[in-house]
Amino acid sequence: MEDAAPHTGELVIAGGEHIPALLKEIEERLQSEAVGYGAPLQQFGEATIAAGGKRLRPLLLLLCAGPPQGESQRDALIRAGAAIELIHSATLVHDDVLDQADLRRGKPTVVSLAGREAAISTGDLLFARAFRLITESGDAEAVRLLSDACSALARGELLQRADSWNSAVKLERYLERCELKTARLFEAACAIAATITAEEDLQLASFGRRIGVAFQVLDDVLDVSGPAERTGKQRGTDLLDGTVTLPLIIAREKDPAVAALDLRSLSGAGEAESLCNQIAATGALEESRAYALALVDQAKQALPIELDDRRRRSLELVADSVVARYS
Ligand code: IPE
Ligand code: IPE
Ligand code: MG
Ligand code: MG
Repeated sequence: MEDAAPHTGELVIAGGEHIPALLKEIEERLQSEAVGYGAPLQQFGEATIAAGGKRLRPLLLLLCAGPPQGESQRDALIRAGAAIELIHSATLVHDDVLDQADLRRGKPTVVSLAGREAAISTGDLLFARAFRLITESGDAEAVRLLSDACSALARGELLQRADSWNSAVKLERYLERCELKTARLFEAACAIAATITAEEDLQLASFGRRIGVAFQVLDDVLDVSGPAERTGKQRGTDLLDGTVTLPLIIAREKDPAVAALDLRSLSGAGEAESLCNQIAATGALEESRAYALALVDQAKQALPIELDDRRRRSLELVADSVVARYS
């Protein structure tokens, strides 16, 4: 896979010289949290973390927080950053069970290697470790924010299951799913940052929510646009899975042949690829990207005026990076 986050280097620089050391410590904490549970759980938990990923949510937390004042804020940020990434990784392991996915972060998924039971337990382990880690900071509000995000995520995944194969799904319902399954964790990263370092609540949560929805819309575009060598996933995986996303919702309005299609009739990767081409031919990918870009613009416009220039610049960059990614 290509470098997934084109702005990461620039972002880290914009955020301040404290960012690289904190990211490194979060990484070390992640690795140490995933070990110590005996085979086979440890093996899968460790492999999930070691497979990498963009670490976007911990970065967002650090950028929202600004430089920590003192050891205890620093420690709380490391714990919260690692906890959010552990939650995210847990949801991916479970998501791959629900979506019957073969590849994650360019590697075989836990479910494809070891089956549903192992994947469910691995995800549960990562969830449990995340809550232990954040609870040890003694910040009850942070625990509540993380817990609310997890509940939203579960609801979002269930809504998606309930909607599967239903091509009549409306835009509002699709956006609700994006918000629940993806954006609430972004929002939690911003809100938890405020509980740790902010003297006043800078209201960054709605920024996180907007870029979170944009991030999911882009992810759904990448599923249709590919190319697989860049995304690390077959094109049309969502379609084969019965998941109706924005590109299909838009394409249905433009092409009667797409509107008439029943996703259940897709018989394999070749047919999914052809449908991806059909969707692309309607201009639905450009429209979906434009939708995500508009959300990012709104998020940037709505950044609070009290924000210092450095944080504003780095948050604008992180917002841009969610719509400039390739995997
Ligand atoms: C993937 O998230 C799941 C979605 C919310 C679309 P990321 O694209 O942030 O996954 P990693 O952590 O970089 O692998
Ligand atoms: C995002 O949904 C997954 C979670 C928020 C748990 P997707 O199903 O679109 O994510 P990918 O495409 O598998 O990474
Ligand atoms: Mg998935
Ligand atoms: Mg996806």
